Amino acid sequence: MVEQNASNAGLAGITAGETEICTVGIGVGLNYRGYGIDDLANDASFEEVAHLLIHGHLPTETELRDYQQRLIHYRGLPDALKVVLEQIPKDTHPMDVLRTACSMLGTLEPETDKHEQRAIADRLMASSASMLLYWYHFHQNGKRIDTVTDDDSVAGHFLHLLHGKKPDELHRRAMDVSLILYAEHDFNASTFAARVCVSTESDFYSPVVAAIGTLRGPLHGGANEAAMHLIERFSSPEQAQAAVHQMLARKEKIMGFGHRVYKTSDPRSTIIQQWSKKLADASGDTVLYPVSKAIDTLMWQEKHLFTNLDFYSASTYHFCGIPTDMFTPVFVISRMSGWAAHIIEQRANNRLIRPLSLYVGPDARPFVKLKDR
Ligand code: COA
Repeated sequence: MVEQNASNAGLAGITAGETEICTVGIGVGLNYRGYGIDDLANDASFEEVAHLLIHGHLPTETELRDYQQRLIHYRGLPDALKVVLEQIPKDTHPMDVLRTACSMLGTLEPETDKHEQRAIADRLMASSASMLLYWYHFHQNGKRIDTVTDDDSVAGHFLHLLHGKKPDELHRRAMDVSLILYAEHDFNASTFAARVCVSTESDFYSPVVAAIGTLRGPLHGGANEAAMHLIERFSSPEQAQAAVHQMLARKEKIMGFGHRVYKTSDPRSTIIQQWSKKLADASGDTVLYPVSKAIDTLMWQEKHLFTNLDFYSASTYHFCGIPTDMFTPVFVISRMSGWAAHIIEQRANNRLIRPLSLYVGPDARPFVKLKDR
């Protein structure tokens, strides 16, 4: 049994279970079912990675074609869900839209047979962009969009629905790679929340809703949005470095830096930084990327803190024309594959997750009746 003391705060350094899905910080730094993240980001598509995570193996060409067709089929939304999306206020955070929409889908298409769990996972992953962008276009432009497109990738579907036209290959692939990088990361906070929830033998949708709520915070998924808010404040690298210097002096946290498990670098960050640079060059950007690089350099010089995946994802998404408050929802679309893999794994060898706490409250004392207080 683990000794109870305050250093267990945040479960830092505690091994909370076994998994076959992913290793973080071992070997090349990040592996999905044994495959290195560099290979996956260079040579795989997000659909291959999602198939690997949810269905347990890399697909053959035929399996991949079938999988792409299934995902296309899953893009349609039930009318009752569209009615709910139309009722959600215009100024709602898109993460709350996704949380609500996933929960609603769980009432319309409830899990009645545990053998259907992989189909539900694919349905949720394929329809998340539909839910988000149906709501977005209804409230921004008064349009009820058709959410089913024939794009053969999740990235293409998202950008097509967002911009109303098929994306060019550079931006589609940038987004595809970003989805690969965001897909899975072992017992991170949202995945752990999902595993805790499903360990009670709950239905498939409930852990997903718990995970979305957990991902929302700026210490987790919300960091990519927070990084964008920081970067876009500056018009030059010098201005950015001076301001971040002051923030550090005030002991403020700089979003998109540091990591609980990685200690010297985040292997995903190197990859997404290259994409951010490519898109910056393609768009003729002279501010956003140089400002990002200047903050990156300063953070390493001053604090030995390195960029995590969220930092350069911010500019990458911006160059893809994605509104800032949709950055974390894009993370949801991708991580749905990792959450699903963990929900399925937890169910396969379940034990209720129920840790202990270290009590630091008052000693036992006599109860005082209301009239005597
Ligand atoms: N900016 C400035 N200082 C940071 C920092 C950051 N992004 N991340 C860590 N630090 C500092 C802390 O202030 C603390 O300093 P102290 O010891 O002088 O108090 C020290 O590094 C340890 O930080 P701590 O928050 O305890 O580490 P953790 O392991 O609990 O946290 C994160 C890991 C990811 C939550 C943390 O690095 C963070 O908040 N980063 C910003 C949010 C973010 O990018 N999240 C996405 C993660 S993928």
